[in-house]
Amino acid sequence: MPVKKLDDGTGETVRVLEVDGYYAPTFDMVLQNQEEDFRSIPNWPLKPDDILICAYPKAGTHWLWEVTSMLVNQSADRMKLIKETSMLEALTGESFSGILSPRVLNTHIPLNLMPMDTLKNRTRIIFVQRNPKDICVSFYNHHSKLVEYEYNGKFENYVNRFLNGLVDYGSWFDYTLGWEKVILDNPDHPFYVLAYEDMKADPVKEIEKLSGFLGLKTSKALAAEIAEKCDFQSMKREKDPLENTADWKGGQPGMYRKGQVGDWKNWFTVAQSEMFDAEFRRRMQGSNFTYRFS
Ligand code: A3P
Repeated sequence: MPVKKLDDGTGETVRVLEVDGYYAPTFDMVLQNQEEDFRSIPNWPLKPDDILICAYPKAGTHWLWEVTSMLVNQSADRMKLIKETSMLEALTGESFSGILSPRVLNTHIPLNLMPMDTLKNRTRIIFVQRNPKDICVSFYNHHSKLVEYEYNGKFENYVNRFLNGLVDYGSWFDYTLGWEKVILDNPDHPFYVLAYEDMKADPVKEIEKLSGFLGLKTSKALAAEIAEKCDFQSMKREKDPLENTADWKGGQPGMYRKGQVGDWKNWFTVAQSEMFDAEFRRRMQGSNFTYRFS
């Protein structure tokens, strides 16, 4: 397997799978032939009622998967599975075809690596965004805690690593600008763009809007129940125990870490923040996406 250790020049490394220059996380514990599986994803057939959640890592994918799954089920019963069971790049073609419909699929890979059916079938896409400074902090903790990355770096070096895309799934800028272009180029495709910060501010309102996009008639009472069941503390309490402890250093699952807007202020120095802002302005100058950083 073409496993690579991404060195940022400080000697610190993040272990990934490299496929034709693209960096994917390794799923050693579940996939025996990951490169082959990864390359086969474009050929996987989609079904008309599939829903795809697309997001850069740490934007709130677990949260939105749980919410969307409950909406589709029209029930606030806790999902017994973890979202990785329907995460394209963590599956084989066989396990993918075994997922029961209606399927709420999710992925962090870009459109060109996703099933070719996606645009042709007009598969509904929920695109989840989060301000990239909080993503950077969350991804740092993710890399630090998961065994597979063999990463032991310092946050003082990590901001540069993140800005340079030396992580699995590559640069946040490339990913985000790539999707913005896809959305603009396909005005008739059913896309729904949703922000983590808006979900935090008013989850019931956002859940009702999402329900509308999915063509569902969800009562306010159910939307409120789903919001409560998918609140950070409830999910941490009830979903963390479903994680495979062997994936996590010290056997301590860390997927539900803090769940707040603006935690970056506790991590970034002023100099790092300014450097990040300068790069953000440079890369995002042509973008219409906006972000709330606090
Ligand atoms: P933090 O590390 O900032 O806490 P993803 O699911 O895309 O990997 O994103 C993970 C991030 O979303 C983590 O951010 C995690 O704590 C946060 N998160 C997960 N569930 C959440 C919830 N129910 N409400 C708010 N944030 C949540």
